[in-house]
Amino acid sequence: MPSYAFFDGKFMPLSEAKIGIVTHAFNYGTACFEGIRGNWNEEQGQMYIFRLREHYDRLLESCHVLQIEIPHTMDKLIALTIELVQRCGYREDTYIRPLAYKSSEQVGVRLHNLEASFLIFAMPFGPYLDIDKGAKCCISSWQRVDNDMIPIRAKINGLYVNSALAKTEAVEKGFDEAILLTHHGHVSKGSGENIFILIDGQLVTPPASDNILIGITRDTVMKLAKNELGIETIERSIDPGELYTAEECFLTGTAAHVTPVIEIDHRKVGRGAAGGITKKLQALYFDVILGKNKRYLDWCTPAYKLVKS
Ligand SMILES: Cc1ncc(COP(=O)(O)O)c(C=O)c1O
Repeated sequence: MPSYAFFDGKFMPLSEAKIGIVTHAFNYGTACFEGIRGNWNEEQGQMYIFRLREHYDRLLESCHVLQIEIPHTMDKLIALTIELVQRCGYREDTYIRPLAYKSSEQVGVRLHNLEASFLIFAMPFGPYLDIDKGAKCCISSWQRVDNDMIPIRAKINGLYVNSALAKTEAVEKGFDEAILLTHHGHVSKGSGENIFILIDGQLVTPPASDNILIGITRDTVMKLAKNELGIETIERSIDPGELYTAEECFLTGTAAHVTPVIEIDHRKVGRGAAGGITKKLQALYFDVILGKNKRYLDWCTPAYKLVKS
């Protein structure tokens, strides 16, 4: 199945969308991006793009931080994304990557006096972590970049070297995922996920001030926990020791969905398997992202025009 990109203001085969080696963003990481999932509902023959508008809201905020102007309205961004998914025509879970970048072919570190471009590509994308078995995690020796180094609410490409270092260290040590701490020693997040723990039946997650990316999946899970299970989430700093004694722990992210954490630094979380609340939230979440829960259909953008038989 051929892949397509929206690049240089037009749709083209992904294999033809290329940038030059002097491109500013390639040399200095001066770009920002989003990761959006299209979730394939086999029964309905439909691809539901999850919380598309919220992802573009965050992309536009990231662009603002990097002084990048995208020459498209929100409605146009949404329409372009739907058209790209339609052109690709995948009938499986899909990852959609919009990216805005400093495109001038110039050497010199800065943000000003540079041209910017915007692109989107899409590709088939299955599970990122094992959502059934759960993930074994370690606390990383790499600390999460602090907000006074790079604005961490923006999804800036260069920032992801921090995540890459932590992820590779974890995998090379035999773990599935890394958990990064802040410079103050508080739990911040996974390499590409937000983190939740369950203590005394209460969900707890780090606050924005602990240098997290404010995840759209994090928000989704907090709303589902409240509306569907009557569980409020407390946003407060978490000490690493609390991870060891938590009843349950899970990671959230567009790529990772809701992934149970079953071990941290070789210590079992709970019984060392996905916990009860985690499983309930997982089930609710998958119904929602697949467009199966009518209450949350507003979060799902159907990409395909269905032909009535
Ligand atoms: C660093 C980081 N934190 C958290 C998340 C989760 O955010 P979201 O749920 O919006 O995908 C991501 C995923 O994009 C991420 O890269």
